[in-house]
Parts: sequence; C-alpha cells; structure tokens
Amino acid sequence: MSLTVLGIESSCDETSAAVVRGHHVLSNVVASQMEMHQIWGGVVPEAAARAHVESIVPVIHQALNEARVRPNDLDGIGVTHCPGLVGALSVGVTAAKTLSLVWGKPLVGVHHLHGHLVSPRAVLADSSEPERSLPFPYLALLVSGGHTELVEVRGPLEFQLLGQTIDDAAGEAFDKGARLLGLGYPGGRAIQERARTGRADRYSLPRALRDDPTRFSFSGLKTAVLRLVEKERDRLDIDDAAASLQQAIVDALAQKTLSVLESGSYRALTLVGGVAANELLRETLRQGAEQLGARFACPPLSLCTDNAAMIALVAEIRLAQGERDDLSLDCASSAPI
Ligand code: KG4
Ligand code: ZN
Repeated sequence: MSLTVLGIESSCDETSAAVVRGHHVLSNVVASQMEMHQIWGGVVPEAAARAHVESIVPVIHQALNEARVRPNDLDGIGVTHCPGLVGALSVGVTAAKTLSLVWGKPLVGVHHLHGHLVSPRAVLADSSEPERSLPFPYLALLVSGGHTELVEVRGPLEFQLLGQTIDDAAGEAFDKGARLLGLGYPGGRAIQERARTGRADRYSLPRALRDDPTRFSFSGLKTAVLRLVEKERDRLDIDDAAASLQQAIVDALAQKTLSVLESGSYRALTLVGGVAANELLRETLRQGAEQLGARFACPPLSLCTDNAAMIALVAEIRLAQGERDDLSLDCASSAPI
C-alpha cells in the first residue's frame, strides 16, 4: 500500500513543502530566499528564520492544493530536523508538530542529508526512468553548499560515510571563488556560465590530497584563486579563471569518487545535492562510471537543490517501517549521517 506523506524543509534558505505518494512526487513547492541573501553575499541565519516564518504556511497550503490532497488523506508528516541552521529548522519543525497534533497524523523527523541521498529514487510526473532499482550497495557523492560527502548506500536508509571534506564544501569552493572573481552569490551557476567560453587550462590551480581517497580539501584552492586575482589584477580573464576553477573542483571530486567506485567494485554511482546541477561534474562522473561498468544516476535539477519532496520520501520509507517521532522532536545544527 502506498503512503501519502507531507514533507517540510526549512534547514537553510529554501522554504519547501511537498506531497509524495508511493515515491511519486505529487507536488513540490519551493520558496527561495536567494534574492534576499544575495544582498549580503551569503545566508544570514536570523533573516532566513524570519523568511521561513512568512512562507511556511502558504507553502504548505499550496503543496496540498497542487497535490489535490486534503489533510485527511495524509498518512504522516515528515520534517527536516537536522542538520542546518537551528532557527530555520525550528520553523519547519514547529509547523510539522502543530499539524501532526491538530490533524492527528504521525510525525517523522528527517536528516537533511538522507533526503539528498534518496533523491534519485523520487519519481516525477514527467520522468521516464525512475531510479528505484539501484543495486545496493552503491556509491553516492553528496555535494552542496555545506556538504561534500562520499557515502556507501547499503539499503533504502542505511548509509556509511566513506569520506568528507576537511575544510570547505565543494559548493563553498564555487561560491567563494565566484565572489573573488566578482561573480556574485551563490556562485556555482555563474561559474558554470562564464566557464562555457573560457579555457580550463589557462590558469594552474591546485588539486589537494590527490592520493587520499577519503578526504577532500578546497581551502587551498580558494587561497590560490585569491593569489591569482591579486597577481593578474586587470589582466585576469574571468572566463578563463572560471573555467580553470570549475575544472579544478570537478577534477578533485571526480578523481577520488571514481577511485573509490573502482576499488569498492560498486555497480552504481549517484550524484546528489546542489552542486550536482553542474554539467561538467555530471558528465565527467557519468563517463567515468560508465567506463568502469557502473550505472550513473543523478536527480533532475528540481531535486538537486534543497526541496521537501526528498524529505517526504525519507519519511514515507520510515513510516512504512513503522517508525514515528513524538512531539519532543528536537532540532540540531549537526548530526552524523
Ligand atoms: O543543496 P543546495 O541547494 O543547498 C545546500 O544545502 O547547501 O546547494 C547549493 C550549492 C551552492 O553552493 C551553489 O553555488 C551550488 O550548489 N550550485 C552549483 C550549481 N548550481 C548550484 N555549483 C556548481 N554548478 C552549478 N551549476
Ligand atoms: Zn541540502
């Protein structure tokens, strides 16, 4: 029997609500705060929490309407409760607890990264090839503004952390690099666009910890871009610098990921999180995985960046296993996978 689940996400700068039934996404509404945070060049936690307060009720209302689902049709409510900005998380968790109490529906707290990790399994109305049949165990590279993790996926919700960044996340490397190149915030998409007409071999940038497959590091790259900007000044070709930076980040991610894919003899690789929107990274990993005889899966863009559909999906799996949380559910800024 398929369960119908409302998901709520407010861990960072998107307020989102979604309805999922039997892994099918019936609605996925996202209110982005990006324009507001662009003014400050990054996410301001207090401002993020206030914006969630404004958006949360209308977003939930819209998600139910678009899915044509009434509260009575729901089998439960899933909400991101860790990791993230605690003030931001509290808004979603409070809304979910209140609805759970008023509607008399079970509540499930969801780890945000579990959401990203299950995202390739969501079925969108227009997707022809759902990825529900990935063979366990498989490898996942999770890359976002706050995370860079290499994870072995052993079961629907069984994860083993294999490696992570020791400093900046991959998305931060894009964002900080973009800021140094004067391309605004967030920078990943801008770097990708400027890189299209740039030469990736123009400027030499470091690839850290080449021989250690379990640790990523991007802070040296940021320093190298700063030095490049200071040295070249007006002569700096922004397109070439963007292409060189993008190539350095993609090389660092792909080299380790593919080496772990090969040494672990995994039969599939997934790429998830906001940085999975990067076309060069997708293509590099797709080709690399196929050369090693492994399947490659990456969710559509709407499920790469933060969204509540992936949260509802995790909740659906946990509710089906009979799991529930009570109204003492807490928020946490960090939590192991
Ligand atoms: O998952 P996400 O929406 O939010 C977090 O949980 O962090 O990821 C946002 C990150 C930002 O660092 C942004 O620059 C990056 O994803 N990003 C990209 C692209 N689109 C978004 N990075 C590289 N290439 C892109 N096309
Ligand atoms: Zn995220």
